Amino acid sequence: MNVIFLGPPGSGKGTQAKHIQDHYGLKQLSTGDMLREQVAKQTDLGLQAKRIMDEGGLVPDQMIIAMIRSKLEQAENQKGVILDGFPRTLGQAEALDSMLQELGKALHAVIELQVDDELIVRRLSERYSCASCGEGYNRTSRNPVKSGVCDRCGSTEFSVRDDDKPETIRKRLSAYHAQTAPLLPFYKQKGILSPLNGMGTIEEVCKGIDSILKVK
Ligand code: AP5
Ligand code: MG
Repeated sequence: MNVIFLGPPGSGKGTQAKHIQDHYGLKQLSTGDMLREQVAKQTDLGLQAKRIMDEGGLVPDQMIIAMIRSKLEQAENQKGVILDGFPRTLGQAEALDSMLQELGKALHAVIELQVDDELIVRRLSERYSCASCGEGYNRTSRNPVKSGVCDRCGSTEFSVRDDDKPETIRKRLSAYHAQTAPLLPFYKQKGILSPLNGMGTIEEVCKGIDSILKVK
């Protein structure tokens, strides 16, 4: 089963993908995580992408499509993938259709996590993650069980993302509304779009996703 998690920054795509991948045996493919890995390694792609990411814009389609193509090919023998943060433009969505067709695969569901802009700004201003394993946390809704110690790896170092500043969050939201929201009618027309209220608790949203995927 191949699934897209579509939604504005901070709607919970990464949080939910981590839960769902374990439960369904699917591989999470996050273009944001892939780009941050390139930034950390200071590759040419990473250096170009960092400037755009820091400004809250979208990295050009051809760079993203080349990057995800190799990951999709590597995941060919998996049970399926969760695409987290891809596609984000109509050009990317059309390229995804062609790549899946070449691999003889189908797209089974596009889950739209719906969250109001004001809540997004709050959530992202409160987000932090483990500097060692990347496990995601939130100052209000999800802190480690033992204060200051990562639940997953035991590290005591945490970090915040460079693009989680209020002015950059607003720009990322504008990019979402202008360039990514047009994908909603695109997938609705294909009959695979499932909108979901993403403003409940993490557990409630997870249950909602589960009930959508169970019937796919
Ligand atoms: P990316 O890393 O994909 O960022 P994003 O889409 O802006 O989304 P986030 O990762 O910020 O949020 P999320 O939806 O994963 O939410 P999370 O689960 O963390 O992309 C970064 C940048 O890379 C882009 O701006 C762009 O420049 C570039 N890029 C990436 N992909 C690209 C592409 N395809 N094309 C072009 N450019 C691309 O949750 C957020 C917080 O809320 C956390 O603290 C979490 O604990 C908390 N939380 C989650 N769910 C709940 C809940 N239900 N209740 C309470 N708190 C919750
Ligand atoms: Mg994410």
